[in-house]
Amino acid sequence: MEDNRFITSTKNWTDAEIETSLRPTSLDQYVGQDKIKESLGVYIKAAKSRNDALDHVLLYGPPGLGKTTLSHIIAKELGSQLKITSGPAIEHAADLAAILTNLNKNDVLFIDEIHRLNKTVEEILYPAMEDFALDFIVGKGPSAKNMRLKIQPFTLIGATTKAGMLTSPLRDRFGVICRLELYTPEELQVILKRSASILNIEIDEDASLDIARRSRGTPRIANRLLKRVRDYAIVLGSGVINKKITDQALSKMEIDELGLDFIDRKILDSIIHKFGGGPVGLDTLSATIGEDAGTIEDVYEPYLLQLGFIARTPRGRVAMENAYHHLGIPYSAPNGNK
Ligand SMILES: Nc1ncnc2c1ncn2[C@@H]1O[C@H](COP(=O)(O)OP(=O)(O)OP(=O)(O)O)[C@@H](O)[C@H]1O
Ligand SMILES: [Mg+2]
Repeated sequence: MEDNRFITSTKNWTDAEIETSLRPTSLDQYVGQDKIKESLGVYIKAAKSRNDALDHVLLYGPPGLGKTTLSHIIAKELGSQLKITSGPAIEHAADLAAILTNLNKNDVLFIDEIHRLNKTVEEILYPAMEDFALDFIVGKGPSAKNMRLKIQPFTLIGATTKAGMLTSPLRDRFGVICRLELYTPEELQVILKRSASILNIEIDEDASLDIARRSRGTPRIANRLLKRVRDYAIVLGSGVINKKITDQALSKMEIDELGLDFIDRKILDSIIHKFGGGPVGLDTLSATIGEDAGTIEDVYEPYLLQLGFIARTPRGRVAMENAYHHLGIPYSAPNGNK
């Protein structure tokens, strides 16, 4: 269901062409995430000057915030080759061993969805990350021997939307752990202006800020909305993206002035009306609105939390006063908080 939604931050096929052309290619062009950029910039310089591999980097955060983009940039800034694979794509330990033995000195190996590596594959990574070596057993029974094969020093970049699902031995082997944050409207506005110029369309100040505010802190959504509004501007307007065209296009898509769509409203409405404002557990909420619990947690909640519309408590999710105001529902303190 989620795949059919316009606002979802997970990637869909229409993103593929546009994302490649809009993807920034250097740290300077990469908007926002200032703390991450600053520290990575230093580590990259240091690694280069020592001619060492950069420490292994773990990038985590909700979909569409720029993890894949940042991995490309890191490799490019290092002047290294980037090899790309993903957790579910590596089925057998031997597949990963083959990838690792083929790496050249200081190459970057990007493993997307790294939380989905299976256990036997993951165990190959431990000595590879720590000692740049592969450990294996030759022979059987009492004559079996442990063998160690050296591989070239390399940098592993792991990306995940679910850092909590990483095993601790794996997580502990990353020297640099970066949590990507949702973007501010001002940062998204910069991204939108850059994207508009690449797409060769004029956008005015009000419109770019308006789209930015409705993009749920997510560059992928910002670019997607921009593309849709552009189509409206070309077909129905003067070819320039202004506030009026933006409003028209986005209200057709049922995206409100904060970027919430019907699923967000369903989540809030359900917490408020069916569960007296909460607390309600994630699984109960998921069953009530018919959305996958993982999707609610990864895709919808981060933005609702950022807006201060919901809070996570040990007993479940609670709707906050701001959410009532936004939905035009008179506020009453949730169960037990009176
Ligand atoms: N900091 C940024 N500055 C400019 N554009 C960005 C930035 N981050 C992301 N983008 C844009 O958003 C798009 C999506 O980013 P990306 O594919 O890197 O997200 P992701 O975190 O890897 O998502 P997923 O979890 O779905 O793999 C990029 O193609 C790029 O156009
Ligand atoms: Mg990605």
